[in-house]
Amino acid sequence: MEEVYGLIGDPVEHSLSPVMHNAAFSVLGMEARYHAFRVEGAEVGDAVRGAAALGIGGLNVTIPHKRSVMDHCDSLSDDAEVIGAVNTLEFDGGVTGHNTDVEGVRLALEREVGDLSGTRALVLGAGGAARAVVVALAREGCEVTVLNRTVEKAADLAELARGLGAEADHGGLDERSRAGEFDLVINTTSVGMESDETLLEAGDIEGASYVFDAVYRPLETRLLREAVEAGATPVDGLGMLVLQGAESLRIWTDREPPVGEMERAARKALG
Ligand code: ATR
Repeated sequence: MEEVYGLIGDPVEHSLSPVMHNAAFSVLGMEARYHAFRVEGAEVGDAVRGAAALGIGGLNVTIPHKRSVMDHCDSLSDDAEVIGAVNTLEFDGGVTGHNTDVEGVRLALEREVGDLSGTRALVLGAGGAARAVVVALAREGCEVTVLNRTVEKAADLAELARGLGAEADHGGLDERSRAGEFDLVINTTSVGMESDETLLEAGDIEGASYVFDAVYRPLETRLLREAVEAGATPVDGLGMLVLQGAESLRIWTDREPPVGEMERAARKALG
């Protein structure tokens, strides 16, 4: 019988998760299908209990339910606890909430940069995506600086990084022209998403080795073009997205996810 997996969120229409997971099921020869379900806030609990009752194989959770879904989990993984958000539900008798964003970021950084210990990293933004990035960087032994439009949120994230044993600093976006002083620069803000805006220009970036943009629509953001002009290696946001999805698949199936095929399918869907 065909197994069913899916995503709950609102909106979900433009999600790349169905494309990449269905590609994975096909490569793995699994009789399974992944669907996107639009679920409103008031219905999250019913959706989770319903999915468990129906024998759904596993769910991803996206905006705006990543925090509220925690109330409907019987247990949480360590990463979900640290991040304070859940993006993956495992139905294992009870409902376990996981967060694969941290591992997705860690794997993407390891793939593109290699060993990170001692790296000086600058994170722009202090929202949900930044949290996963900062936890991954702190655990890998980076020195982390967080700059955000709302400075208090940057301070909270720096505190989180220090709690994990990292050296950490914070400030406002007015300090962003210092980007070139860092080895690794990561944009986690939504600036540049479906627009040609950028928080950094080539002159700010000169001196940095790597620029990651968590934005993947478009794949080549203006920030990444500025990075190339500054002589830095640009890394788009698709790898992080695919690798967090791959980790969800690993949790649900205990199988090695076909990352290359998943990434190819997602890249093709982006056009
Ligand atoms: P996500 O889950 O994608 O991280 P989020 O939690 O809403 O989304 O975080 C969005 C991030 O982008 C925040 O750091 C936000 O800054 P504030 O904390 O000050 O709101 C940042 N951001 C969004 N629009 C921005 C803009 N126009 N200029 C600078 N930062 C912006």
